Amino acid sequence: MVSKRTEELLELDRKYLIHGFSVVGEKEVGPIIERADGVRCWDTEGNAYFDAASQQTSNTLGHGQKDIIDAICEQVKTLQFAHLLGRQSNVPIIEYARDLAQVVPPELGHFYFTSGGSEAVETAFKIARLYWSKQGKGKYKIISIQDSYHGAGMGSAAATRAGSGVFWTGYAPLASGFVQAPYFYCNRCPFHLEYPACNTLCARYVEEIIKKEGADSVAAYIVEPVMGAAGNIAPPPEYFPIVRQICTDYDVFLIGDEVQTGFGRTGRMWAQEHWNVKWDMMTVAKAIDACYLPFGATLISDRIYEGLQGSMLWHGWTQHGNPICAAAAKAALKLIIRDKLVQNGDMVGNYVLERLNGKFKALPNVSDIGGKGLMLGLELVRDKATKTPFDAATMSKWQREVLQKGLYVRMALAKDYTRVRFNPPIITTREEADEMLDILYAAITELKSR
Ligand SMILES: Cc1ncc(COP(=O)(O)O)c(C=O)c1O
Repeated sequence: MVSKRTEELLELDRKYLIHGFSVVGEKEVGPIIERADGVRCWDTEGNAYFDAASQQTSNTLGHGQKDIIDAICEQVKTLQFAHLLGRQSNVPIIEYARDLAQVVPPELGHFYFTSGGSEAVETAFKIARLYWSKQGKGKYKIISIQDSYHGAGMGSAAATRAGSGVFWTGYAPLASGFVQAPYFYCNRCPFHLEYPACNTLCARYVEEIIKKEGADSVAAYIVEPVMGAAGNIAPPPEYFPIVRQICTDYDVFLIGDEVQTGFGRTGRMWAQEHWNVKWDMMTVAKAIDACYLPFGATLISDRIYEGLQGSMLWHGWTQHGNPICAAAAKAALKLIIRDKLVQNGDMVGNYVLERLNGKFKALPNVSDIGGKGLMLGLELVRDKATKTPFDAATMSKWQREVLQKGLYVRMALAKDYTRVRFNPPIITTREEADEMLDILYAAITELKSR
């Protein structure tokens, strides 16, 4: 039983709203979030939840950050909107670009701002194709990884392989020229090999794909450095150095999609730092302003920027360079640096990983633990010896029970395995992480009987 007010809100929701990534007409809605503070959210019934999902890995800095809220309110008073199309510019976006340039990899100092991650990815694809076309080369194909997520646009969805292709169902034809590479999930090796005896075949195989497609037709390889939607999966250490070399050898751009990993999520400002590799382009969103407002960016290397000199960019969105979003992002970046939040995420992430690798790993339903920083995942299995996954209905019911216990977690968008993702805001303290893990541990032990 819920209150009359909640029931009325639920009814209005069912009547008017279409939710993304849900069944149209689905009657089971909720919880309805009313307020939030720090790492907790409250619904209209007054139930509190730890947000161990950071609202889709977006609300990285937690809720109620006064500095970001103040920056938004101040900016609204001066300039609410001025676009960035053609020759016009605006003060907040220039100031934010100046600040961002201080923290990005030095070779990625040219920014195209967007309203989110999908637009950033679409931009990266179009820039890659435009570059090669300007050079008089017909390189247009984009390679992306099995089970990866890159967005919901016609191009970004074409690169998205999450859920073994469910993102394509019913939308064909999506943008053409997209090719799939195997993922780097060792617990479910696509080649049925064991690491390290495999010699990181998943990385080396990228060369085979480029050769098969024809290097003169491949424009870019887009990667999530730690696969988010697939369940917070980090690659073996050799993966990115090998892939970087292959892309360099065949003149294929390596696009780091850091929409989830950027701005400290993995215990480094940029995930690329874990392997000391360089992207040719990087896409960011979500943590750029902790999703207080819709914002994102495509970061472009000097080489690409120079190569595009003189090209007309027939590409732009009205909201590109929104001054209020820029003010929010400027305040968010200041906060990340001032409060040493990247270091906090690293420290708390390592602590959580240690706990997971202890008691959790011994549980009969836990098959794999991995990830980086505060982007961690646990594969849950019905049978540890055979790695038999749980069915979707059991997992969905379990996820709701976890919520009732006061913990909001997300599951991987994969068809062949069930993996719970643990990625609370990077402001999370060890004590808060402990409380979240206690709930999670109790919930996983209950899976034993299913
Ligand atoms: C790695 C990655 N790229 C791109 C996107 C798309 O971002 P948005 O939902 O802001 O369009 C997402 C969203 O989850 C993502 O995880």
